[in-house]
Amino acid sequence: MGLYWKLQQEVVSAATIEVGEQKKGLPTYTAEDVAKHKTKDTKIWVTYKCGVYDITDYVSQHPGGSKIMMAVGGSIEPYWDLYAVHKNTEILEILETFRIGNIVPPKKTDIKDKNDPYGNEPKRNPVLIPSSLKPYNAEPPSLLLTEQFLTPKDLFFVRNHLPVPVVDMKSYRLEIGIEGKNKLKLNIDELKKNFPKMYTASVVQCAGNRRSEMTKIKAVKGLNWNNAAISNASWAGATLNDVMNKAGIDLDKCSHKHIVFEGMDKGPEGSPYGASLPIELARQLKNDILIAYEMNGTELPRDHGYPVRVIIPGVVGARQVKWLNNIYLSNEESTCHWQRKDYKGFNASVDWHNVDFEKSEAIQQLPVISSICDPAEGTELESGAEEVTVKGYAWSGGGRAILRVDISADGGKTWMTADLQPTNQSLYKTWAWTLWEATVPLPANHGGKAELTCKAVDVSYNCQPDNVEGIWNLRGVLSNAWHRVNVKIPS
Ligand code: MTE
Repeated sequence: MGLYWKLQQEVVSAATIEVGEQKKGLPTYTAEDVAKHKTKDTKIWVTYKCGVYDITDYVSQHPGGSKIMMAVGGSIEPYWDLYAVHKNTEILEILETFRIGNIVPPKKTDIKDKNDPYGNEPKRNPVLIPSSLKPYNAEPPSLLLTEQFLTPKDLFFVRNHLPVPVVDMKSYRLEIGIEGKNKLKLNIDELKKNFPKMYTASVVQCAGNRRSEMTKIKAVKGLNWNNAAISNASWAGATLNDVMNKAGIDLDKCSHKHIVFEGMDKGPEGSPYGASLPIELARQLKNDILIAYEMNGTELPRDHGYPVRVIIPGVVGARQVKWLNNIYLSNEESTCHWQRKDYKGFNASVDWHNVDFEKSEAIQQLPVISSICDPAEGTELESGAEEVTVKGYAWSGGGRAILRVDISADGGKTWMTADLQPTNQSLYKTWAWTLWEATVPLPANHGGKAELTCKAVDVSYNCQPDNVEGIWNLRGVLSNAWHRVNVKIPS
């Protein structure tokens, strides 16, 4: 190593040692104190290691634009892990100039409760925004969601109803057959080696994505998802058809009415998470449904179903069972709570006093949806901005391609058409999402604010409802109204 580089390294490490270290004589703040400082009015604070920083005056100069706002009120470290370019002396030194205090170190909680069913959960990316911790449910910040066509594994939203099971791979078997009869049993090597490996890019979306917009109209039961309970990955595995054939079952000829999938995660009463598809849908999708063991080119992460999950393109996430160990034909729909008593739609006059879950069909193929991911709600644009670049996703269930995404900067009075990123999938088998972008002029007399709106049209010319009031339902599912984001435009 040359002397120059050695010296350079010493300079870097000398500078980095101080940034974020405890500093005597400064006030001390708790994480809760920091979390109260997220806007210009309250001042914008972040933490780095032990340091607390007031970056209010820096935010408008940030070269990465409003992305810095994802970290406000908390630690910037997880974001710097994502955007490693920040970890250089110059940026660390700039940060230290905004130092206002030290953070109280969090209490060490090493004592593990051995009886906690959630004691064996996987490590998660701290960037994810949890809507519940036990079970763990979380979505990525929407600004990050549409940066890539394939959502990185550690940013993919997580929807768990129960603790993540610990799977012993020596004894793991996937059982395939007919309810109540002997079943074919495959270990993971047999699943990988005995069938052609097929790939598909496909969305998983929770039926409750964008539920928070319904909550604003009237309370609903369910996790308060923003607009990122949806992600898109590349999956690999054997097709359902191949696996069923190996078990001696021809889906086209069988007389059973449903195909049931069960996972290894069990509720307190011992019954597993399960879901089912009507047999007609399974027949239609039999070569597209994957018994998947890979996500984005490597094995499934624990949160997303390791070692095996079913990927049912175009269908609601609830049916895409993770930690899959049982597939069987039945004349009954899955008896699982989440098949029969949840994930169903009702009109806005049905509430908990008069709901009858038996009267509604289980949600399968989802309706057309789109959402603005960038800018985020409440973003302050550059002062005097005359236009804004808007980015987001659009997707429709049943493989229906997105034909068009319309964007408005005046709350829906006038529209522009967004540029769509090609998915390279066919019009009637578009399982992946369509990312889009549009630069829209801001209205002349905006008065310092604008409402950005998007709506998508799919290949069946289905479009999104213009308001959420008309589609409100007690569980807050299928929330696919025009998506609206408010931005500020300082003069
Ligand atoms: N499978 C099992 N075994 N257990 C679950 O809790 N959640 C379902 C589905 N499969 C679930 C499951 C729901 S509601 C959704 S939306 C998707 O998994 C979420 O998949 P993800 O966590 O990989 O995003």
